[in-house]
Amino acid sequence: MSEEMNLKKLFSLDGKIVVMTGAAGGIGAALSKGMAGIGATMCNCDVSEKGLKALSDSIEAEGGKCSSYLLDVTKKESIDAAVDAIIKEHGRIDVLVNVAGINKREGLLDVTEETYERIMDINLRGVFLVSQAVGKHMIKARKGSVINIGSHNATAMLGGCSVYGATKSGVVALTRSMAVEWAEWGVRANAVSPGHILTPLTQVTWDHPTRGDYLRDRIAMRRPGEPEEILGLVVLLASDASSYMTGANYVVDGGCLCGGMPWDFDSAYRNYED
Ligand SMILES: NC(=O)c1ccc[n+]([C@@H]2O[C@H](COP(=O)([O-])OP(=O)(O)OC[C@H]3O[C@@H](n4cnc5c(N)ncnc54)[C@H](O)[C@@H]3O)[C@@H](O)[C@H]2O)c1
Repeated sequence: MSEEMNLKKLFSLDGKIVVMTGAAGGIGAALSKGMAGIGATMCNCDVSEKGLKALSDSIEAEGGKCSSYLLDVTKKESIDAAVDAIIKEHGRIDVLVNVAGINKREGLLDVTEETYERIMDINLRGVFLVSQAVGKHMIKARKGSVINIGSHNATAMLGGCSVYGATKSGVVALTRSMAVEWAEWGVRANAVSPGHILTPLTQVTWDHPTRGDYLRDRIAMRRPGEPEEILGLVVLLASDASSYMTGANYVVDGGCLCGGMPWDFDSAYRNYED
């Protein structure tokens, strides 16, 4: 077999059964369409029936395979019902992508207990419950890859994101523990932490009179990311090409954590195009 054919096989998602929460959102829909486009059978889960319908219409129009499940990551009975239905239909789950997440931006002292619990419930408890439910089947099958969407705020921080950041640091810690406990059964777990991506969740920040420019100044590539720009890393982690990768948090941020734009400085090379 040629080298090209081997690489195609290594990175292939052909026939893989992929469960994704938050699939109807900005990042979820881009990932789901992209993964279906290279052969995955997508089991799209979300609380938005309308969003799921639009996603499945779009995947099916391109000839991809998918099914939809109304699943609330905060409700164990809803998770168990969806996972049971998926196992009944496909017999196994190869990949889990935990994407569902919310944020409410307000100062630390203004956050009510209700807000704290809602963000914790969806972003951290949700990842915990869905991973437990799916992990059991992966362990039985002696293989699987869990991909948890973290965030820039798991490592760095923006004002007004206290609880959100705490949940995302928690998601990265939980990822490490899945990797450590499940490796002996062939199950891998990694986190993918996007930087500032333009989606319905973040539109408000990019539209803000000062915050959009503030962010651009702190991103080396000087622009928000597109949801599709997370896809390559997720495909790698879902495929057999990442067979020795587990327990890590991978950043996709256009050069934000590395320090953003450079200071003004004097150098002959600044004008190299003149
Ligand atoms: N957009 C960014 O810049 C960015 C950056 C870093 C991390 N993230 C993370 O990426 C993930 C997706 O973000 P997005 O920007 O696509 O947001 P989004 O708001 O577009 O999508 C979130 C999706 O989660 C679903 N959801 C909400 N509550 C749910 C629940 N209880 N059960 C099941 N599904 C539920 C929503 O219906 C929606 O479809 C989130 O975890 C977010 O924290 C986003």
